[in-house]
Amino acid sequence: MVTDDAQPLVLGIETSCDETGVGLVRGHELLADAVASSVDEHARFGGVVPEVASRAHLEAMVPTIERACADGGVRLSQVDAVAVTCGPGLTGALLVGVAAAKALAVGLDRPLYGVNHLAAHVAVDQLEHGALPEPCVALLVSGGHSSLLLVEDITGAGGGIGSLGATIDDAAGEAFDKVARVLGLPFPGGPHVDREARAGDPAYVSFPRGLTGPRDLREHRYDFSFSGLKTAVARWVEARERDGEPVPVADVAAAFQEAVVDVLTRKAVLACTERGVDHLLVGGGVAANSRLRAVAQERCDVAGIRLRVPRPGLCTDNGAMVAALGAELVARGTAASPLDLPADSSMPVTDAVARLVQRS
Ligand code: KG4
Ligand code: ZN
Repeated sequence: MVTDDAQPLVLGIETSCDETGVGLVRGHELLADAVASSVDEHARFGGVVPEVASRAHLEAMVPTIERACADGGVRLSQVDAVAVTCGPGLTGALLVGVAAAKALAVGLDRPLYGVNHLAAHVAVDQLEHGALPEPCVALLVSGGHSSLLLVEDITGAGGGIGSLGATIDDAAGEAFDKVARVLGLPFPGGPHVDREARAGDPAYVSFPRGLTGPRDLREHRYDFSFSGLKTAVARWVEARERDGEPVPVADVAAAFQEAVVDVLTRKAVLACTERGVDHLLVGGGVAANSRLRAVAQERCDVAGIRLRVPRPGLCTDNGAMVAALGAELVARGTAASPLDLPADSSMPVTDAVARLVQRS
């Protein structure tokens, strides 16, 4: 592999949920992206069990670091900086990654960067499409978050990252997972709903589009709500079952997916247009959704907005995204995080990187 050795080599660790990810990045170049998932261990519970996730991270951490180094053809001693997701996410899970990153930073005597998981979902696109256009609007849709962000500077400096809106109840991925369960599809449901929906009719049922009425658009212009939609799907399916009728899984999946995609893309394009921003970036696990990618492209084309969406493998949680943000922080001369960096389960998206903690 030909690499630009002039750029620092950054190792990124991700453990905020159920994926143990270790990535190696030099500048905007991805050298390795090793991921070990504990998703199968959570499937029978229908959701991620924090304690199970933490234990799985512990077991997977060293082998995943070794695999990333082998894949990237680098030795740990060549790493110039260590980045780690320090929030938001499950506290126990985050702690495993943060502890591993601190051990590496101390052992290698390299700077440590505690980074924001959501900002990393945005930064990862640089590995595929080059330097991030700033400003851009970022639509971040995952199992835990649905946010519209105005990104002026991905490292948090200057205008930084501003929150335009977010879900007021369920995250988009959470809605996919819950609806999949109602439809008898396995966890995590997003990819299964996506697959089923390809054979379904998106207009089969017109499910509600949350927070799109005139009053909602005044008070929650860029916010989302998927809880009512999820309940509407569950009620529709229950009524069908009560009547002894078969549930047309593909059609319901397509109609539900259409409602989510419609609202997400409509509000994202609206934010770009009203903020005068001509680049939209879509990231997070739900950005792997084929219908979301297609409708976002159609609507951006109509509105004259340039769309950037990383390939599906980079949308779901991974270590490369953490390394990508770490590399950007290093490149822009951002100060490293302190070694007593805490895990912050509710780290605000406006903080791209953990800075010195103010002590009282
Ligand atoms: O970003 P991610 O890997 O983890 C979090 O930070 O939450 O996102 C996981 C979420 C899950 O809810 C999963 O069902 C959803 O992303 N997801 C999808 C698709 N692939 C993953 N949702 C819809 N369509 C997909 N193809
Ligand atoms: Zn994520």
